[in-house]
Amino acid sequence: MAEAIYPVPADWAETALIDEARYLDMHRRSVEEPDAFWAEEAQRIDWIKPFTKVKNTSFHEEDFGIRWFEDGTLNLSANCLDRHLAERGDTVAILWEPDSPQDPSRAITYRELHADVCRLANLLLARGVQRGDRVTIYLPMVPEAAVAMLACARIGAIHSIVFAGFSPDALAGRIQDCDSRVVLTADEGLRGGKRVPLKKNVDEALTHCPAVATVVVLARTGADVAMQDGRDLRWAEAVAAQSAECAPAEMNAEDPLFILYTSGSTGKPKGVLHTTGGYSVWASMTHQYVFDYRPGQIYWCAADIGWVTGHSYVVYGPLANGATTVMFEGVPNFPDPSRFWQVVDKFGVEIFYGAPTALRALMREGDDWVHKTSRKSLRLLGSVGEPINPEAWEWYHKVVGEGRCPIVDTWWQTETGGAMITPLPGATALKPGSASKPMFGVQPALLDNDGLVLDGATDGCLVIGDSWPGQMRTVWGDHERFFQTYFTTFKGWYFTGDGCRRDEDGYYWITGRIDDVINVSGHRMGTAEIESALVAHAKVAEAAVVGMPHAIKGQGIYAYVTCNAEVEPDEALRRELVAWVRHEIGPIATPDVIQFAPGLPKTRSGKIMRRILRKIAENDLGSLGDTSTLADPSVVDNLIANRPVLA
Ligand code: WTA
Repeated sequence: MAEAIYPVPADWAETALIDEARYLDMHRRSVEEPDAFWAEEAQRIDWIKPFTKVKNTSFHEEDFGIRWFEDGTLNLSANCLDRHLAERGDTVAILWEPDSPQDPSRAITYRELHADVCRLANLLLARGVQRGDRVTIYLPMVPEAAVAMLACARIGAIHSIVFAGFSPDALAGRIQDCDSRVVLTADEGLRGGKRVPLKKNVDEALTHCPAVATVVVLARTGADVAMQDGRDLRWAEAVAAQSAECAPAEMNAEDPLFILYTSGSTGKPKGVLHTTGGYSVWASMTHQYVFDYRPGQIYWCAADIGWVTGHSYVVYGPLANGATTVMFEGVPNFPDPSRFWQVVDKFGVEIFYGAPTALRALMREGDDWVHKTSRKSLRLLGSVGEPINPEAWEWYHKVVGEGRCPIVDTWWQTETGGAMITPLPGATALKPGSASKPMFGVQPALLDNDGLVLDGATDGCLVIGDSWPGQMRTVWGDHERFFQTYFTTFKGWYFTGDGCRRDEDGYYWITGRIDDVINVSGHRMGTAEIESALVAHAKVAEAAVVGMPHAIKGQGIYAYVTCNAEVEPDEALRRELVAWVRHEIGPIATPDVIQFAPGLPKTRSGKIMRRILRKIAENDLGSLGDTSTLADPSVVDNLIANRPVLA
């Protein structure tokens, strides 16, 4: 089949901030004269003390370091709030839609948001939070989550958001790793009509975190929750007593802004650290150009603030640009599969940014759910988090966007802070399934396994050749791990962990992770984390987890489990292990398949051959490759013979 290509619509080419000629010119300049280019782009941010140095970065071991605008000072909360007050204090900053359409939505103006942020910031100060201290946020998708982020940024505290779907254990690990003494949470969360016991989870987590001295509890559902005297405060009461003015702290460009834990190939999730100046410039710039954002437009990014997309494109990017950002508490299919498009109609959303997994799930429900709604306000659609298959892309384009909305398929990572490879709607002809072209300052390259740079149309390992302002600066508490993880696989390059194809037009097609990370419904999971949860069960001797293709989730979780000798594995144990993993990590890590295996394929030196396990999980039995180097080749026959029949 010939590849479809959608040229830039004429009206977009004429009116967009950036057309093709401008894109090419700006990209060239961003690479050839980075200091001049970024000095100019950084003017979108209000600096307290202007920087005199722009870029000071190296990916090489001798002088490794990443610093941007290093002698400038600023406050991101002031950039998201205070500077808008004069001109658009009464503009809606956050349009919030609750889980249930029966409940009222909320519209919070920049002026109101400013006051709420100041009150919470003052409360944090009153509880002894100082610049550089870590604050853990474990909140559902409510405006107070954005208030919490901005309050931290205001006083120079470092926030660490933990997705509200994570288990008490996962939460405890993240609180301990960065040693936060304050947790902001709610009584309960509400998603798809189901209640999530957030405060109860916090209480369980805090039995392992004695250093936490303050828990602020938002009343979301009004459920009766246990409150510990001296430690736990009720949000509304506690902030009511605080002043609505709080001077923003003057932060250095390289002062930490937030930590966000993310999964990698090995070990525990790492605390990705972003700093203030470069991240602000990057989030604001990419939000403006990728979405061609103009003040006054209603913009909706459907990601949760527990993931980086929520950080950069629900909160910081849009608010820095004075946008009206929609925050949605619910899920795409509750109460029915029209929900997203009803919200679009309700608020007159012009720009919608979502994840392929949701689109695939909605696509399966049929077009009627979409056709029931008008969607006439939509101008632009976006996709993020995982590769979007051309079929879902075409559906998004034809059915949701009625053929009139360009789709920006944005490739990026927690580590990159914002969009890295993406179309710009006025500049880039679209190819369904391709993230297309690099953002300003981004220099992608494809390498072979030996680190040789590949030219032209080819497949390879995706690396980035030089730093960009939104790049992560370190792994919290482990700078060596930062260097080892990203800069040693290919010396002098940032290694993304993704495989990629470049076509004859120079378009990039991300093919998925080539390390031991899997992408389940757009959520990044380390197979090692799920394995360690499984082996923590008393009956499990060994486990190996791989990804498998999944029609809705993109990838599913396939776990091979070897039980202890005396254990007779059965259906009851299978269910028990599924529940166990959900409890250890959270529902997002629910295994789709557990195959009990008397043995796992290993090399003679004892290394598990994951390549073979992946092939079996994919039911790709014709290309198992060479199994002769295995210590016991018969285990493979056993695995194939006992592969569960999947629906
Ligand atoms: C994958 C999410 C293809 C990729 C912003 C990356 C994508 C990982 C795309 C990062 C896309 C993200 N096309 N793959 N448009 N966007 N990915 O850290 O494998 O949660 O490495 O950041 O998601 O996931 P993370």
